[in-house]
Amino acid sequence: MLKEKIEKIKEEALASIQEVATLAELNDLKIKFLGRKSEFTEILKGLKDLSGDERKIVGQLGNSVKAEIESLLVQKEKELKEKSFDFTSEKIDVTIPAKKLKRGHMHPLSKIQYEIEDIFTSMGFEIADGPQVELEKYNFDYLNVPKDHPARDMQDTFWLKNEEEKEKTLMRTQTSAVQVRYMEKHKPPFRIIIPGRIFRNEATDSTHEHTFHQFEALFVGDDINVGNFKFIAQEFFSKFFKKDVQVRLRPSYFPFTEPSFEFDISCTVCGGSGCSACKNAGWLEIGGAGMVNQAVFEAAGYERNQYQGFAWGFGIERLAMMKYKINDIRLFHSGDLRFIKQF
Ligand code: DAH
Repeated sequence: MLKEKIEKIKEEALASIQEVATLAELNDLKIKFLGRKSEFTEILKGLKDLSGDERKIVGQLGNSVKAEIESLLVQKEKELKEKSFDFTSEKIDVTIPAKKLKRGHMHPLSKIQYEIEDIFTSMGFEIADGPQVELEKYNFDYLNVPKDHPARDMQDTFWLKNEEEKEKTLMRTQTSAVQVRYMEKHKPPFRIIIPGRIFRNEATDSTHEHTFHQFEALFVGDDINVGNFKFIAQEFFSKFFKKDVQVRLRPSYFPFTEPSFEFDISCTVCGGSGCSACKNAGWLEIGGAGMVNQAVFEAAGYERNQYQGFAWGFGIERLAMMKYKINDIRLFHSGDLRFIKQF
């Protein structure tokens, strides 16, 4: 009798557990078949009243059926849990663009400066530096700038007040100020570039700033000539603009060079045929250059006519404006992120 009852419970339990669809239903079945008040538990409780043999047989059967039902419950629970897991909420859409990290980056002027330095160092030039607060002699006297030259007056130079000092100081107006500083400490042959910040007491507009940057080159040896200058300038500008660039010299005057030139490069937009960028000239004005005046060598402590060298200088902002087509020099120091972010 009991044996049959147990077999029947087993059949019923296994069949209904198989069909269950939710965890809640499964839990109900667990209570129904194995709970404290279930028929099965009652039978197992009554075992003690049975005779020895019967107790053994029914007991064994009861235990094995209980184990069978329990293992099916566990298996089913696992199945249902896996099924009910909500994968859509966990899904990662790998096609969504990642959030952009706001990163700082180099200022366009620094970028241009490093580019220039790379090109020159690849041609064997070294980088020299000097102070922005400069003595009058390095900025003017040693460069053969006459005492009464208009560049020295208040219009162009920020003079510094320093009553105790004997020597007058100023904010350097040109990177040429580093020329004699360097030559005092070095003997030719050498080739250097001097990138740096300079200052002019000027009204500002779209092409003039009171604070800007220049780039000086100085190449000194026994037999340096204008041809060397032209070649190096052509090499440099071709590399910088990544195209074939021609250099043209026009006679000019600077106190620290003799002869002196202004130099132009073939228009980087039209290549020389004429366009709006070069106002149909085919050429763009770049900077000043010349063979170093022997008076400057003398100021540096070299003997007159012992060496020859060329020097040149140009504005880094102007070059950046040409390369990136920027139409207002004041943008560089404006601190305007809308401008800076474009580079
Ligand atoms: N220092 C000049 C200026 O600021 C530029 C210049 C001209 C530099 C001729 C040179 C040079 O080295 O040879 O306008």
